[in-house]
Amino acid sequence: MLVEDEKKISDFLKKSLEAECFAVDVAEDGEEGFLHAHAPHQDKIALFEKSIDDISRFIYDLLKLTELESNNEHLRTDRIDLSTELTGLVEYFAISAAHSGMTVTSDIASGVTILGNTPKLKELLLSLLSNAEKYTKKAAEKRITITLHKDADHAVLSISDTGIGIPQEDLPHVFERFHRSHNAKHAGMQRSGLGLVIAKTIAEKHNATLTVTSTEHKGATFTLTFPCIVD
Ligand SMILES: Nc1ncnc2c1ncn2[C@@H]1O[C@H](COP(=O)(O)OP(=O)(O)O)[C@@H](O)[C@H]1O
Ligand SMILES: [Mg+2]
Repeated sequence: MLVEDEKKISDFLKKSLEAECFAVDVAEDGEEGFLHAHAPHQDKIALFEKSIDDISRFIYDLLKLTELESNNEHLRTDRIDLSTELTGLVEYFAISAAHSGMTVTSDIASGVTILGNTPKLKELLLSLLSNAEKYTKKAAEKRITITLHKDADHAVLSISDTGIGIPQEDLPHVFERFHRSHNAKHAGMQRSGLGLVIAKTIAEKHNATLTVTSTEHKGATFTLTFPCIVD
């Protein structure tokens, strides 16, 4: 599909949804609201609100991808201390992951510097971390391990989890638009299937590669390899 078509469709859906959300807000509003007079409908409205949230997130992801793909902007503009950024992000992530009973460990080498765009880089890392949490929170062992090391001219960052893993036959497809493995769908997690496409697009705009290895029921490891600045 053309990027322009995608943008038109998602803009249209976004506007329609905003109108729906407004209607639900009005229906819920105050003691005089429709829902207070029709309590039995509240379950259905909660479902409706959830599906509005899902669709909104889907549209948000689609718009984000469209923007990234239509923009030739190069993202290797700022000198980034990846060690410091990653350490901060992992500390922040570990606090929220602890609520899902997750153990987060890390081994982050210091002084690893790359060229990049900090907000986009954080978005990419948070997307991988949130997948790791989402697909591990129902596993018996809930552990996420983050490592960063540097070889001669590359920075290698990996995020491993002990979650549901990815079936062998799905591995070649996880970076395709809308692809979701059957085990992720069966786990009842409703998402867009665009997160990894966005992540890979951001990685490529940093001249980085994003790869995955996984064994179903054992976990997954996503690895980012960046060219790094050698001082
Ligand atoms: N850490 C992970 N463990 C197991 N499966 C994963 C993991 N990360 C991604 N996947 C699989 O890749 C698919 C695509 O991921 P993504 O594009 O982020 O979509 P979403 O999170 O919206 O489902 C997921 O639906 C899931 O099947
Ligand atoms: Mg995701």
